[in-house]
Amino acid sequence: MTTIDRLVGAGVDRIDGPAKVRGTAAYAYEQDPGEPIAHLAVVQSTVNRGRITRLDPSRAEAMTGVLAVLTPANAPRLAGDLASDLPVLQSPEVHYQGQVVAAVVAETSEIAKAAVGGVVVEYAAEVPDVVLSADRDDLYAPEKVMAGFDTDSVIGDVDGALAAAAVTVDATYETPAQHNNPIEMHASMARWDGDSLTLWDANQGPHTIVSDLVKGFALEPGQVRVISPYVGGAFGSKAFTHPNQMLAAMAARVVGRTVVFELTRQQMFSLVGHRTPTIQRIRLGADPEGRLTAISHEVVEHTSKISEFAEQTATATRVLYAAANRRTTHRLARLDVPPPTIMRAPGETPGMFALESAMDELAVALGIDPVELRIRNEPAEDPERHVPWSSRHLVECLRTGAERFGWAGRDPRPRMRTEGRWLVGTGVAAATYPTRRRKADCRISVDGRGRYVVEIDGSDIGTGAWTTLSQIAADALGVGLDAVELRIGDSRLPRAGGAGGSTGLASWGSAVVLTARDLRRRLEEQYGGQLPADGLVVDGGVGGESPHAKTHSMHAFGAHFVEVRVDRDTGEVRVPRATSVYDGGTIVNAKTARSQFLGGFSMGISMALHEESQIDARLGHYVNHDLAEYHIATNADIGELDISWLDEPDELANEIGLKGIGEIGITGAAAAVANAYWHATGLRIRDLPITPGKYFRELGLT
Ligand code: MOS
Repeated sequence: MTTIDRLVGAGVDRIDGPAKVRGTAAYAYEQDPGEPIAHLAVVQSTVNRGRITRLDPSRAEAMTGVLAVLTPANAPRLAGDLASDLPVLQSPEVHYQGQVVAAVVAETSEIAKAAVGGVVVEYAAEVPDVVLSADRDDLYAPEKVMAGFDTDSVIGDVDGALAAAAVTVDATYETPAQHNNPIEMHASMARWDGDSLTLWDANQGPHTIVSDLVKGFALEPGQVRVISPYVGGAFGSKAFTHPNQMLAAMAARVVGRTVVFELTRQQMFSLVGHRTPTIQRIRLGADPEGRLTAISHEVVEHTSKISEFAEQTATATRVLYAAANRRTTHRLARLDVPPPTIMRAPGETPGMFALESAMDELAVALGIDPVELRIRNEPAEDPERHVPWSSRHLVECLRTGAERFGWAGRDPRPRMRTEGRWLVGTGVAAATYPTRRRKADCRISVDGRGRYVVEIDGSDIGTGAWTTLSQIAADALGVGLDAVELRIGDSRLPRAGGAGGSTGLASWGSAVVLTARDLRRRLEEQYGGQLPADGLVVDGGVGGESPHAKTHSMHAFGAHFVEVRVDRDTGEVRVPRATSVYDGGTIVNAKTARSQFLGGFSMGISMALHEESQIDARLGHYVNHDLAEYHIATNADIGELDISWLDEPDELANEIGLKGIGEIGITGAAAAVANAYWHATGLRIRDLPITPGKYFRELGLT
């Protein structure tokens, strides 16, 4: 076994840091194809449902500098069975507000955007159906929910156990729609050379994008190359192909030039998906000692008319706590909204706001400390699959976190602490996220002088993968970092899955370790441990899930402790400090890992206090579609975050023992804030975000 312990674990500086800081790392929009670039801008539907009755591009076409106006009447036909929002400009039918109904290609971005106003579009529109509620009569059960999970799980007699329980909680929680907003908007630059397409693109994995382009343009995989060395942040929307890639490629074909399309910030709110809103009813039953006898978690969420996106909102409830009787369900309403998509820990994030809020309500009802309540319900094995954990250190996270935060001696009663106008409270919640691995190929070559080139189509969306994968490679090869040249972010490289589901480093890292081992063995066996003068190339990889995934339940865990202060006169909410402790297996890079945990948790504070996409029930659009009105947490919202982790490699998960840490930081975070808010104020807010207005609503003052 290769030792992974020299560089792995160290806080190595980001390899790509200097280039990014100096501005020399070229993102998709900044590529230089060696010819003048044409720019694309889009005309978007102003109705949610209906059809185009008139589209007149003539004024736009007549503008100086306009090269072409693509419409459903003249746009290149896309082949294949493209799904969801991908058949762009293929029909006059409108399925969601913001749908692209025409595209202008021009010499400059300014001309393209100005010419958008010269395209006249009229619609025959129907009344939009955009409001989710739990009592709609058209709710349905999808066949499966995302990531292959069963739609429902039913074990034992939940209703009987609830009726017999000494203490129960029955509450409904709501989370709003949210929109992915990485700093870099989605951007695609397309160039055709004959029938071959090159696309510089902001995405979470080039190979995923290739397959949709191959399908849409009826090409062979070898005819499409997607290149994405640097990506300016991504939380899920960049995991899939969206209209931007199709449009850039179509337009480049029409005008015979390189075309670039970068979404505006406002277009991020209609063209690249959103986190579905949820309505979740949780019922818990417990005995007087706080042992759960029943857990019921029923989820209602929305999807679009043109695609089924079924978020796995209740799946964390299937693993977090022991209880003999359990039920989780997911129901969907098909609305006239853009297709929802994934956003950092889809499922776990909204689902654990509900579950972990309900656990806090149960602790209050029982008069048991909420840390202790969780410890009493720690399951010895996966409570639904009935298999052992590969490793699970949630109790240790809770205990360590309580110690670091100073939880002991907390007065459990609400609204007992004030400092001036501030009502002060503390709260806790657990975190969990699945540990998985995907198939990945890898190639490692070494020359006669000991220079190693490691090639794999992984992607660094800002997580630090350039650095962490280099560390893993260097350790596995038994050389220093400077002997390794990593190549990622290009579909010409050996095939690998994207950065998503916190699977990136587990998958790519395992592929690198296995290939490196193979290379070292061959050097040993064939060359007596010497480097052959003309070098050696080895192709390898990893097949997919860990062989232990069938027999073990694999998850990362964590615990958040939060202090919340609420201004008793204005309802302003602050989070001055928090402690999070994680069981994330092997931590490959102390710096970039801290950044992931910190970012995830900050996004949880953002969810708890700020983020909400508000839809207009009559006109059907997301009203607050920019960062002036869609509020996200900024530096001033984040106080002292004490982040740490347990040193517990998961030997069964993968070759490195890591659990994947991109998403766990956000899970449970919003509940920890809401629980601390209750402790500060005595007010239980069950619908996010917790705005000052809701303080007055709960006090009956509005
Ligand atoms: Mo992440 S939502 O799995 O891209």
